[in-house]
Amino acid sequence: MNRDKIKKMGFATKSIHGGVTSKDSTRSLATPIYQTATFSFESAEQGGRIFSAEEEGYLYSRVGNPTVSQLEEKLAILEGAEASLALGSGMGAITAALWTVLKTGDHIISSRTIYGCTYELFELGMAKFGIDVTFVDMRDPSNVKEAMRPGTRLVFIETPANPNLILNDIEAISAIAHENENCLVMADNTFPSPYLQQPLALGADIVVHSATKYLNGHGDVIAGIVAGRQELMDEIRVTGLKYMTGASLSPFDAFLIIRGLKTLEIRMERHCDNGEAVADFLDSHPAVEKVYFPGLKDFPQIDLAKKQMKRPGAIISFEVKGGFESGKKVINGVELCTIAVSLGDAETLIQHPASMTHLPYNEEAREKAGISEGLIRLSVGLENAEDIIADLKRALEMIL
Ligand SMILES: Cc1ncc(COP(=O)(O)O)c(C=O)c1O
Repeated sequence: MNRDKIKKMGFATKSIHGGVTSKDSTRSLATPIYQTATFSFESAEQGGRIFSAEEEGYLYSRVGNPTVSQLEEKLAILEGAEASLALGSGMGAITAALWTVLKTGDHIISSRTIYGCTYELFELGMAKFGIDVTFVDMRDPSNVKEAMRPGTRLVFIETPANPNLILNDIEAISAIAHENENCLVMADNTFPSPYLQQPLALGADIVVHSATKYLNGHGDVIAGIVAGRQELMDEIRVTGLKYMTGASLSPFDAFLIIRGLKTLEIRMERHCDNGEAVADFLDSHPAVEKVYFPGLKDFPQIDLAKKQMKRPGAIISFEVKGGFESGKKVINGVELCTIAVSLGDAETLIQHPASMTHLPYNEEAREKAGISEGLIRLSVGLENAEDIIADLKRALEMIL
């Protein structure tokens, strides 16, 4: 179905039919997996024309592949973007975009609380290439204004922030960043997925995803997405993807994500129902000190959550009384919840950011980012909520 028609349809319809432009000669309903490294040409002349983009066509799967293309078209539709690019990991997506738009001497402003490896890239990696990064608390957008310099090329926003669910106002921050006409706004939309939040409609220029998470949804693929304007995506494909990272996605993994996306809407609704039930339970439990969840009535940024997110999602962080000594007992005490990093899977996952996903932060930076030593992160899965709650209840009783 063509893009103009599909764009007018509902989210689930888009995630099922988006990007499916034609059936192959076998009329296969499922997306064919083009498991090939390279593509043949009819002649030397045609090969040359395809390489120099005078003629459309696939040439080598690092740069483009029909199975991967279907996923890219689907994500462009879901994010309301002109185009998207699928890559071999979320970090591959972020770096391919950054290596394309940045040069030595540029300046980045990043939200202070972000995924640990993105933080490591900004804190350690960028300095090697002469790119300066300023971390700011974006809960107050005027901090972005204060940090802006003539050489600020990129404002990076993660919202909700991994792991403590701090929210950043994409619309307000984008307006400030765009006062400098060379500045791009990149938003990591991994936590909410395009079902719950659409950063491009709020003013961002580039959306990135760890497609490893909700987009695929089944914990069996590592992948990433970049979405935005066609011209920018073309540039990232021929620079960031083709030769600066080579972080291409395999056709089989693209197939798995296409399959996963067909249920994104119903999975997200169930994740959110479960997230709300588990957050309410934790919030009322006597062993729990504090719960971080954008759906709780006393969440400090509840108005912003309502403004830019359809529902609050299903990642919850919490601290228990007695600090991490007690927290460890809770993590080790669960049976149904699995001790593992990653998120957005069918299984409920529990982890300790300070010693796992956010280990790249030193103690001082962690404290400034609001990631306490005792913080526990829960990715609420698709099991029956009462079973998740019963498991947590049993583990929490061990520390009462
Ligand atoms: C918010 C966020 N962005 C990016 C990434 C990196 O994605 P990947 O692990 O697919 O490289 C992660 C991974 O946990 C993440 O949580």
